[in-house]
Amino acid sequence: MSDYVIRPLKTLEELQAVEALQRLVWDDPTTVIYQHMLISLARNGGSILGALRGEQLIGFIISYLGTEAPESDRPAMANLKLVSQRMAVQPEYRGTGVGYDLKLAQRRFAIEQGIRLITWTFDPLVSRNAHLNIRKLGAIGQVYYRDYYGSGDSALVKLHSSDRLLAEWWVTSNRVEQRISGRRSNLTLQQYVDGNANILNPTGVSAQNLPTPAEQVEQPQSTLALFEIPSDYDAILNSDVGLAEAWRAHSRDVLERLINNEGYAVTDFIHGEYEGRSRSFYVLSYAEYSEIRINRFSTN
Ligand SMILES: CC(C)(COP(=O)(O)OP(=O)(O)OC[C@H]1O[C@@H](n2cnc3c(N)ncnc32)[C@H](O)[C@@H]1OP(=O)(O)O)[C@@H](O)C(=O)NCCC(=O)NCCS
Repeated sequence: MSDYVIRPLKTLEELQAVEALQRLVWDDPTTVIYQHMLISLARNGGSILGALRGEQLIGFIISYLGTEAPESDRPAMANLKLVSQRMAVQPEYRGTGVGYDLKLAQRRFAIEQGIRLITWTFDPLVSRNAHLNIRKLGAIGQVYYRDYYGSGDSALVKLHSSDRLLAEWWVTSNRVEQRISGRRSNLTLQQYVDGNANILNPTGVSAQNLPTPAEQVEQPQSTLALFEIPSDYDAILNSDVGLAEAWRAHSRDVLERLINNEGYAVTDFIHGEYEGRSRSFYVLSYAEYSEIRINRFSTN
């Protein structure tokens, strides 16, 4: 689908439409970024890009300038990055490439500003977002945050938890250029397995036909490992709360340890049919990106 244009949103009416789309998606007043804040962002170096089909706003992405590592002895200017705060697409247009196009427009905006890094956080249990962020866009994940938005009542918190993976998108890197130009061929699950990556936690299936976390988790046997997540965590949230909690505990336990303590980074994501089921796997690589591991803001 390409009958839409992507451009910066500036007028009050356009920014009202961004507020309205957030209400539709999150349905929670504590989560909506209100029009006055959007106006401030749009007029002070932030970026609010909209995908418009005629007059209709079908998607948006909001970002602002931020800095990396405030405790560094380098001035903020040396650490400028773009922080991608929020993206949403109207439900009926999802899965047709609008989100991807919005991210590419955001990348162009960053490059025009001389910025090389865009960061954002996403729930590591949401396969759709992992596929877009890691596989299609070429972002990497080197930091796991426990309860990034706390554990209280909010649309950003599910079952008292808001764990997030930090996506780092090094927009001018070879890796990203190759991904978005299609010059990098996508490796399959089998190719990773043949390359010595073991599946740390092959899932089982519940009586309701939902994926269940492995009881035993293997250790990585090489510098590459595969970590499985459900392909549709929302379906589990909606039908089996206990299982959804078990998935959070399981993925937190493994990903937090491997990423924050043992030096693995998320470098790829695979989603597809495997052994007759829809399956999703993070690819974790040891030390591949350690040279750009930088100090992070603490959430404490
Ligand atoms: C996240 C969001 C903005 C993505 O927008 P979108 O227009 O649907 O994104 P795209 O169509 O460009 O990309 C989605 C990709 O995920 C794939 N996908 C869909 N379901 C999937 C699943 N269960 N597992 C893995 N990939 C999946 C799609 O097939 C598509 O990939 P493809 O182009 O290779 O086929 C949109 O889903 C949304 O508004 N979600 C609610 C708000 C939200 O979660 N925002 C992000 C956090 S702020």
